[in-house]
Amino acid sequence: MATILTLAGDGIGPEIMTQAIDVLQAVNKKFTLNLTFESGLIGGTAIDATGEPLPEETLSRARAADAVLLGAVGGPKWDTIERSKRPERGLLKIRSELGLFANLRVAKLYPQLANASSIKAEIISGLDLLIVRELTGGIYFGEPRGIRTLDNGEQQGYNTMVYKTSEIERIGKVAFDLAQVRAKASGKPAKICSVDKANVLEVTELWKQTMTKMQESQYSDVALSHMYADNACMQLIRDPKQFDVMVTGNMFGDILSDEAAMLTGSIGMLPSASLDEEGKGMYEPCHGSAPDIAGQDKANPLATILSVAMMLRYTFKQEQAAQAIEQAVSDVLDDGLRTVDILDSSEADLRQVGCQEMGQAVLAKLV
Ligand code: IPM
Ligand code: MG
Repeated sequence: MATILTLAGDGIGPEIMTQAIDVLQAVNKKFTLNLTFESGLIGGTAIDATGEPLPEETLSRARAADAVLLGAVGGPKWDTIERSKRPERGLLKIRSELGLFANLRVAKLYPQLANASSIKAEIISGLDLLIVRELTGGIYFGEPRGIRTLDNGEQQGYNTMVYKTSEIERIGKVAFDLAQVRAKASGKPAKICSVDKANVLEVTELWKQTMTKMQESQYSDVALSHMYADNACMQLIRDPKQFDVMVTGNMFGDILSDEAAMLTGSIGMLPSASLDEEGKGMYEPCHGSAPDIAGQDKANPLATILSVAMMLRYTFKQEQAAQAIEQAVSDVLDDGLRTVDILDSSEADLRQVGCQEMGQAVLAKLV
């Protein structure tokens, strides 16, 4: 028997989590997966209850669980408290404490949503892109960091972007291996694009050199290209289908994955997996807590539901159950159901639904 810890968090977190748990329970039954569920506190709701964005109890239960499903954290209510106690710190801490260094963000366009994107349909149709983002290093965690007062009384903020060879190799291996797996599945040649800013930053010069060495010594079957982060942002809009797997550091990955999400119509569609060295993981939508629409039944639960599919695939090796969820999502889109973020008002046959109705429609396809 395996245990899943669910952490709904803040804002729209609880609404999307309710739908995702319903879906997970349905596949649990249908495929006799023997999963049990626990819930815990993280983010602002944890601060309100315990004073900490990641209470010890949540962390120890996360360590004991076989997988974690996270909603979203943060909101204006907690934006003014001391930085080290803010909800986002809870998220960064759980990623770091659990060693979840590999963040996989899949931007896959459902053909039904080709017109929901702000990009022309022909540019994005058939898009299926994987961003492999390093998640526990780089400028997010580098020391020293802070805001200090200079001798002249002026304040100065500073952060440090650092990567060791071993950290680059570890994430590189994940990206190269997944490029091989994807190539096998698609029948296309394996390729990865490593994104850096090696023209300016030494830390990413080491990144680039390390990726090149890995390709030469271990992955001669995978074509490796390099791209500067600014150009990668541009190319993602100009011709996103030139990419298959992109691998990059923590901050560039944060930025590129939001951009890639919009290619698929809405960030409300983008799931993610954050894995440790054994493949144990935390699964979460790429979007945030959207406090402006929280509690209004407007949120899109599909990114969280698709994150459940990733959990079944990567942690529990239940490919069939994962595909059943992905198919159910596709079927619901075929039926014309749309949350407001993926609604194209020029299409007549679509019906706007709320978070709950969308989640229950997916569920209905699974039972
Ligand atoms: C993400 C988010 C987080 C990040 C925030 C909420 C700390 O933007 O998961 O992409 O920057 O990693
Ligand atoms: Mg982000």
